[in-house]
Amino acid sequence: MVKEIVDGLENGAGLSKDALAALLLCGDMEEIAYLKAHARQAADRVFGKDIYIRGLIEFTNYCKNDCYYCGIRCGNEKAQRYRLTRKQILECCRQGYALGFRTFVLQGGEDAYFTEKRVCAIVYDIKSKFADCAVTLSIGEKSRRTYQAYFDAGADRYLLRHETANSAHYAKLHPSQMRLENRKRCLYDLKEIGYQAGAGFMVGSPFQTVDTIYEDLRFLGELGPHMVGIGPFIPHRDTPFAYAQAGTLEMTLRLLSIIRLLHPRVLLPATTALGTIHPAGRELGVQAGANVVMPNLSPPQVRKQYQLYDNKRCMGDEAAEHKQELAKRMADIGYRLVVSRGDYGKE
Ligand code: 5AD
Repeated sequence: MVKEIVDGLENGAGLSKDALAALLLCGDMEEIAYLKAHARQAADRVFGKDIYIRGLIEFTNYCKNDCYYCGIRCGNEKAQRYRLTRKQILECCRQGYALGFRTFVLQGGEDAYFTEKRVCAIVYDIKSKFADCAVTLSIGEKSRRTYQAYFDAGADRYLLRHETANSAHYAKLHPSQMRLENRKRCLYDLKEIGYQAGAGFMVGSPFQTVDTIYEDLRFLGELGPHMVGIGPFIPHRDTPFAYAQAGTLEMTLRLLSIIRLLHPRVLLPATTALGTIHPAGRELGVQAGANVVMPNLSPPQVRKQYQLYDNKRCMGDEAAEHKQELAKRMADIGYRLVVSRGDYGKE
């Protein structure tokens, strides 16, 4: 059963809802090994043994949104808020550059302090000082004009997980001011402007079902993103979902493999959340078809404050300064970290 579905995926036959359910619910780990191995082969055909690295700079944890799952939601009064200065951000880039990073991902909450003008100035600064680097923004929903302004200032890529492509599910994860339609509009705008755009969702978020995942995959098929970020949902103690169940390693790995087979060229990170729920999560992610890792380049003293979920890993080889450890772990499974922007391949 799994074998036929995987062979179908490889031949571009797509994936029915029943087939998706069969892959997600299959209890036979040998059959599932076939899924993961074929997803990895698909990644090897496009990327070889190369793993792209991105330096993640979490530059503000102020956020005007109140997403029920997220530890930096505005309603969490226990979060200790911080924002980095432009100088601190540039210093992160300088250190990252010396370590061999050629992509900087500026991620933050939706923080009004970082106006369009301020963000553009920071992007412009980074691009002038590190001309051979890509800048990725991950700062939420903005107007098309603002996305265009960031792009004109030099931003190359934008990450905005859609979180779920089912509007009823979306409404269970977010307050009513937030709308799936707007989120989708943002993603289409980003693509049209010319960004390499990344969508994605949490695996095992509360109220997620095979049906909503099926809609996520259909949405990815429609949008055609260059990147897809998925990681397990992990509860945060000071959110409404404090006692919800976490997503699992296994479900995340299967979905990584499915997405790899559906979109062989897509950039697919083995995320921090995956590394958090299992000590070998990122290696297992790579072996299931992921080809990107994003170590933390934020100043060590603020890392603990960017708590999207409990026990978020930010030390050891999650930290950019320990890139050697990460490189060794990848080498141990036959992969190498490359010093490159790691752009989406042009066909
Ligand atoms: N568990 C896992 N991932 C989370 N995110 C936010 N909160 C959590 C959580 N509790 C993810 C969201 C967001 C990204 C930056 O982090 O998908 O888009």
